Amino acid sequence: MSGTQEFLFDLSDTGGVDYTDESTNIDARTLDEMRELMAAYPQPRSALIPMLHLVQSVDGRVSSVGVRVCAELLGISAAAVVGVATFYTMFKRKAAGQHHIGVCRTALCAVMGGDILMERVSEKLGIKDGETSPDGKFSLEAIECNAACDFAPVMMVNWEFFDNMTPDKVEKLLDDLRVGNRVQSPRGAQLTSWREAERVIAGFSDGRADEGPGAGEASLAGVQAARVNNWRAPDAKSMTGAAQ
Ligand code: FES
Repeated sequence: MSGTQEFLFDLSDTGGVDYTDESTNIDARTLDEMRELMAAYPQPRSALIPMLHLVQSVDGRVSSVGVRVCAELLGISAAAVVGVATFYTMFKRKAAGQHHIGVCRTALCAVMGGDILMERVSEKLGIKDGETSPDGKFSLEAIECNAACDFAPVMMVNWEFFDNMTPDKVEKLLDDLRVGNRVQSPRGAQLTSWREAERVIAGFSDGRADEGPGAGEASLAGVQAARVNNWRAPDAKSMTGAAQ
């Protein structure tokens, strides 16, 4: 092989926490709630992830003040907090929109139309992957497999599933969200906002966890087939014997 192969990287948008922006909505109530989360674990440090979700619920992102507060309360370095905040993609360093749209583009969703859905959402909202609309109403993210491949192609809004999506369904969904119509996830709760969803993920229930069906038809197809055919799981003891 002749010549040198050159790989180009574009990491310009990986973004750390913005320390130039000191704005925050964290108040005494937020601090009390953070302490409440810390008290729920044998090791307070285990509360860091829910605490960061709580920061996002009030600040719309992992704010610099949020990082500092988490570090001080937990007695760890700001670098340790940022290490977690920048590892998990659910943590945003730029403000997410009122509604955060995720489009799955992993293999199965992609071949079932995920790429086309992403294009349609992007065109309609005028934003690309990783961007937030200027009015703060929507943000968009290409997401990896949601473990909902039986409903491909799948989208998420504020972390709630939208199954078997089509470009027409996308149009209606975004129109409804834009004008504030009631929108129900086919397998989850009625949509509120991304920040409210973040508060629930932090551990503060809004009483809607049981809204919607527990599982969709496609996920239950195997169970139905087993019932019809009278299939049974092998006896655990016989399996242990087989392994020996
Ligand atoms: S590939 Fe999209 S949910 Fe699995």
